[in-house]
Amino acid sequence: MSDVDQMLLADASPADLGDILCLEKACFRDPWAASSFLAEMEHPWSFFRVLGPARVQGSELTKILAFHIAWFLDGEMHILNLAVKPALRGQGLGRVLLKDGLEAFASRGGGTVHLEVRRSNLAAQGLYHGFGFKAVAIREGYYRREKEDAIIMMLPVASSAAEEFEAKVIVRTGS
Ligand SMILES: CC(C)(COP(=O)(O)OP(=O)(O)OC[C@H]1O[C@@H](n2cnc3c(N)ncnc32)[C@H](O)[C@@H]1OP(=O)(O)O)[C@@H](O)C(=O)NCCC(=O)NCCS
Repeated sequence: MSDVDQMLLADASPADLGDILCLEKACFRDPWAASSFLAEMEHPWSFFRVLGPARVQGSELTKILAFHIAWFLDGEMHILNLAVKPALRGQGLGRVLLKDGLEAFASRGGGTVHLEVRRSNLAAQGLYHGFGFKAVAIREGYYRREKEDAIIMMLPVASSAAEEFEAKVIVRTGS
């Protein structure tokens, strides 16, 4: 059975922190500190989900393969952090996480989703474009260390939109 055959989504908890930090370091040049992740587990406006293989019985995750953090604020969703383990990319897990977040936002009334993405990050831009996000602005030099521009992407989400996202998810399981 491959890692992605039996996946479970769950709210992040402090027990996941070690896995999340490893994944964060593997995915980002400026990784967040442990305290930032713990804070996101506490904020009432934070949506913090983890994805991992389900145990055969029960609902605990054995390890974290991907995670997603967003803020839900009064008709706005801001995507802060979305990461998939490098070895498991290209199998639809990013889509599963994004769909989960967009559905949750729609179920709370929807509104506008926005995010910043590096100009060079074509994989993430492709993921967001696939859900209908549009590039609406450029923030020049937003990522200061590399002086890289951020592309601001947005998506309007209606409260009735949850079913639309269903069609976007195809998980490609391994052999
Ligand atoms: C961006 C990221 C989350 C995508 O996760 P993933 O599980 O590999 O994505 P999926 O397999 O669900 O792919 C969904 C779509 O994303 C796009 N995509 C994914 N990888 C891509 C790549 N290497 N090049 C171009 N487009 C890509 C494609 O449009 C793809 O749809 P397709 O398979 O029909 O072509 C992952 O690459 C990642 O963790 N990157 C590092 C962290 C990061 O940059 N996060 C985003 C911050 S804004």
